[in-house]
Amino acid sequence: MLETTAPAAAASAALPDFARRRTFAIISHPDAGKTTLTEKLLLASGAIRMAGHVKARGERRRTRSDWMEIEKQRGISVTSSVMTFERDGIVFNLLDTPGHSDFSEDTYRTLSAVDAAVMVIDVAKGIESQTRKLFEVCRLRDIPIFTFVNKVDREGLDPIGLMDEVSSTLALDLTPRTWPIGMGVDFRGLIDIAEKKAWLATERGGPLVREVPFTEIEDLIGLEGVEERIMEEAIESLTLALGVLPPFDLASFREGHLSPVYFGSALKEAGVPQLLNGLSDVGPSPLPRAAQGRTVEPGEDMVSGFVFKVQANMDPNHRDRVAFVRLCSGRFKRGMKLFNPREKRNMAIANPIFFFAQERETVDEAVAGDIIGIPNHGMLRVGDTLSEGESIRFEGLPDFAPEILRRVLLSDPMKAKQLQKALQDMAEEGVVQVLRPISDPAPIVGVVGTLQLDVLSARLEKEYGVPIRYETTSYATARWIVGERAEVDRFLDMNRSSTARDRDDAPVYLARSQWVLDRAIEEWPKLKFLAVKERG
Ligand code: G4P
Repeated sequence: MLETTAPAAAASAALPDFARRRTFAIISHPDAGKTTLTEKLLLASGAIRMAGHVKARGERRRTRSDWMEIEKQRGISVTSSVMTFERDGIVFNLLDTPGHSDFSEDTYRTLSAVDAAVMVIDVAKGIESQTRKLFEVCRLRDIPIFTFVNKVDREGLDPIGLMDEVSSTLALDLTPRTWPIGMGVDFRGLIDIAEKKAWLATERGGPLVREVPFTEIEDLIGLEGVEERIMEEAIESLTLALGVLPPFDLASFREGHLSPVYFGSALKEAGVPQLLNGLSDVGPSPLPRAAQGRTVEPGEDMVSGFVFKVQANMDPNHRDRVAFVRLCSGRFKRGMKLFNPREKRNMAIANPIFFFAQERETVDEAVAGDIIGIPNHGMLRVGDTLSEGESIRFEGLPDFAPEILRRVLLSDPMKAKQLQKALQDMAEEGVVQVLRPISDPAPIVGVVGTLQLDVLSARLEKEYGVPIRYETTSYATARWIVGERAEVDRFLDMNRSSTARDRDDAPVYLARSQWVLDRAIEEWPKLKFLAVKERG
């Protein structure tokens, strides 16, 4: 039997503003169709300005897999970092994750600011490496995940086989919400399982605008424009899938264990409205956030939020920065003063940026789930909490122990001071981690993905006029050293050539191999060697 769900959107007018927010990101492997889906989501909501989009996309495509891509992306990223659009009273905040194929901390931080994710899978390829990595990041926080199986207008894996592969590769339960009627050249439309409707085209290959409600699924056999063979096969495979897969369960979805699956073709706009309905109806509104000492509820009066991204030097002539803040509670109003516990001071937010339909607009009000951009001169760092008076700190924006460590050498030794300043800026923006070895003046930069190194050297040269070179180090990995002060000092004393301090002066062990690290862990039982460090 097919079950139905009542659309939550209809009742949205009665909800508090924050409960009408859906803040999400799209995760995918390059080429699966993230950009196309983003465009079509905006289009389906009526918020789009196509021209700007297509151009940005064209630029991105031309420069793909090259560090220049990031440069280009930075040019368009303040406008495309956050896309806000509205449909039937629900406000969607779509956060863009960096499109390059190299995993970076930037991606992680963006995912820390969303309440749900849409995982786009190419029907012909299944789970690819980047999808998997991003999925694992979502799983760390148990983010609910919608699955969009894209490109059903092309030949691909059969739906049941594909779902089986995704489910076993990711150890994730799946349940179909829409089902394709044929694939590739046979693609005729979709069955919306919850709504009990088929969506068909009025002409072959056209948009799915013909809506056919049904009571029993067999009623769909014999519809004009769909060959019986194709419909029968679709019904057979759907019935089989519903028989073996778990039914949709809201609690299990919200806990990140079960993903509703939508088949479609972003290019042909097929399945996109259904996905949007899913986001409206079952997508989570802003969730409570863990802070040190207590949990902050989205409906609280006190305004609070955290910085998940800082974009510096958008305009090379002005060292401006925009801090992207995810609001977690309260009703933010322009001109408000917010407290930054790290700086121990208030900051008047005079010119916040609101992201609506690609335009920078001055915000007047925003609620939990919304993102605001705060232009500043370096006062805000990634991980900072802002709140109305109360000194809270949100958790969940960690630094990761870098896996690649390089010594930074100056081409022009006269520029040591500029280098120091530039590295500090880049560390605050979160481009790299900067470590100062205890017994060596040359700083070490640590990254998770090599692309970050290319970005760093290109930006130092272009924005700060400081050309650098990298020298490999003999270190394989880094760990934060935590323990009683005397014990930490003893360790640092005995390991001067392989210890450093991070930008917060926290001690870091630079291990030459995993084996050496394991030995240190064994020999220093009173110390902890952490791979992840909470910020703040
Ligand atoms: P990405 O952001 O995930 O990297 O993917 P993007 O949307 O740029 O899509 C990658 C390629 O896949 C593009 O083709 C795009 O047109 C195509 N595509 C996306 N969705 C669908 C779909 O539903 N069906 C089909 N058949 N193709 C789809 P391209 O030829 O690389 O670029 P373009 O010349 O079309 O821009």
